[in-house]
Amino acid sequence: MSETVLLIGGGGREHAIARTIEDSDCDLYACASNRNPGIARIAAGFESLEETDPEAVVAYAEDVGATLAVVGPEAPLDVGVVDALEDAGVYAFGPKRAQARIETDKAFQRRFMAENDVPGCPDFETFDDSEAACDFIDEYGGDLAIKPAGLTGGKGVKVIGDQVTPEEGKAYIRDSEYDQLVLEERLIGEEVTIQAFVANGSVRTAPAVQDHKRAYEGDEGPNTGGMGSYSDASRELPFMTEADYERAVEIIEATVDALEGYRGILYGQFMLTADGPKVIEYNARFGDPEAMNTLPTLETDFLDVLVAAREGESLPDLEFAEQATVCKYAVPEGYPTEPKAGAKVQVDEESAGDALLFYASVDERDDGIYTTTSRSFAVVGLADTIAEAEEIAEDALAVAGDEGLHMRHDIGKAELVQRRIDHMAELRGD
Ligand code: AMP
Ligand code: GLY
Repeated sequence: MSETVLLIGGGGREHAIARTIEDSDCDLYACASNRNPGIARIAAGFESLEETDPEAVVAYAEDVGATLAVVGPEAPLDVGVVDALEDAGVYAFGPKRAQARIETDKAFQRRFMAENDVPGCPDFETFDDSEAACDFIDEYGGDLAIKPAGLTGGKGVKVIGDQVTPEEGKAYIRDSEYDQLVLEERLIGEEVTIQAFVANGSVRTAPAVQDHKRAYEGDEGPNTGGMGSYSDASRELPFMTEADYERAVEIIEATVDALEGYRGILYGQFMLTADGPKVIEYNARFGDPEAMNTLPTLETDFLDVLVAAREGESLPDLEFAEQATVCKYAVPEGYPTEPKAGAKVQVDEESAGDALLFYASVDERDDGIYTTTSRSFAVVGLADTIAEAEEIAEDALAVAGDEGLHMRHDIGKAELVQRRIDHMAELRGD
C-alpha cells in the first residue's frame, strides 16, 4: 500500500524534508501557516493553516487520508499536535508533548539530565525568582549562561563574558518577564549539532554539523535562528575526533534510554570542550538549517524510516553519502533586529545551478517571490570537500545578488574552518 504523508511546517527545514521524500513511494501533502512555494510545488496539496492548532491539523490529515505525519518545527510539538494526530489514528514522527519538553522546557531538560545521570550536563540552577537569579550571578565564581526556560526561537540566551557583562545580564533578567530561568556554567569550545533519528529504542545518528548562530561575519552580532551550517564528508567535523563523535552519541543514547518511548528526531547541540562534549541543549526536531545539510546526503529512504517507526520496528541503518555540505541562508537586510521585508528573490531552484535551493519565510505573489521579516531562503552546496561545497553555495548566492538581502559569506570558508581547528587545538593544549 502506498503511504500518504502529511508534512507540518513551512520553513527551509520542511522544504528539505519534502524534497527527501519527493521520490519515495508516497503522496505528500503539507500544511503550514505560511505558503512555502518550494513545498507547494512538490506536494499534491498544500493547506494554509495554523500549524499550532491541533484540530486544524487533524482535520486536514483526515481530509487527505494521511497514513503518516512528520512534524518539522517545535511549536506544534509544544501544543500537542503529535498527541492529537495519534488520538485521531494518524502516526506522527515526532515526540508527544510530554517528551518534547526536552526542548520546550530548558529547566525540565537540565533536571532530567541530572536526575537520570546523563553525562555531559553542565552545572546549573533553575530559578523562578528574578532577584534570586541575580544574587546567584553575584555569588557564582565564574561566567554563566542565562537561559529562559521556554521557547524563544534561539534568541533568548545571554552569555556572561561573551555577549553581556554580569551587570547587563542582571538587567536583562530584571527587564524581561520570563517565568523561569536556567543559569548554567558557561561552556567554552566549539558548537556541534548531532541529530538522531529515534523510534522504538533505535537511535541512528547523522554526521555532525556546525551551525552559525550569530548574525554577522566573524561570529559577531545578535543570535539568530541560524545563518548557515556545514558538514564534512565524514561523520566528524575538521576540529573533532572520532572519540568526540562517539562520546556525543553515547550522551544522546543515554538520554533516549531515560526518556522512554521517545520518537522523532532528537537534536543534540553540544559544546566540544577541553573535557569532551557537553550538552548545550536538546531540540525535539531537525535543526534549521542543519536539516538542509543532513537530508540531502541521506541515501536511505526516509519513508522507510517513517514506516519502520510506525510499525514498531527497529529503524533501518542510515547510509549517508560521503559528501561535505555547506548551507547558507539569505535573510532580509536588518535581520534579526530590524528586518526589512519586500525584496524580490532573484534566484530559484533552476537558476541556483549546482546548489540546492530551499525556501523559508517568503511571500509568493503573482509576479514573483518576496522576502518577509524572517529567514528567506537557503542554498546548499554538496561536494567532496567543504571548500568545494562552499563555492557551489556562493555561486548560487551570486545569482541571488544582495539587493535587500544579507548573508554570511564566511560560513564554510577555509579561514573560518581553520579558526575552529586552531581554537580546539588551543583548548586541548595541543
Ligand atoms: P540555545 O538556545 O540553548 O541553543 O542557546 C543559544 C546559544 O547560546 C548557543 O548556541 C550557544 O552559543 C549559547 N549558549 C547556550 N548555553 C551556553 C553555555 N552553557 N555556555 C556557553 N554558551 C552557551
Ligand atoms: N539551528 C538551530 C535550531 O534549529 O534550533
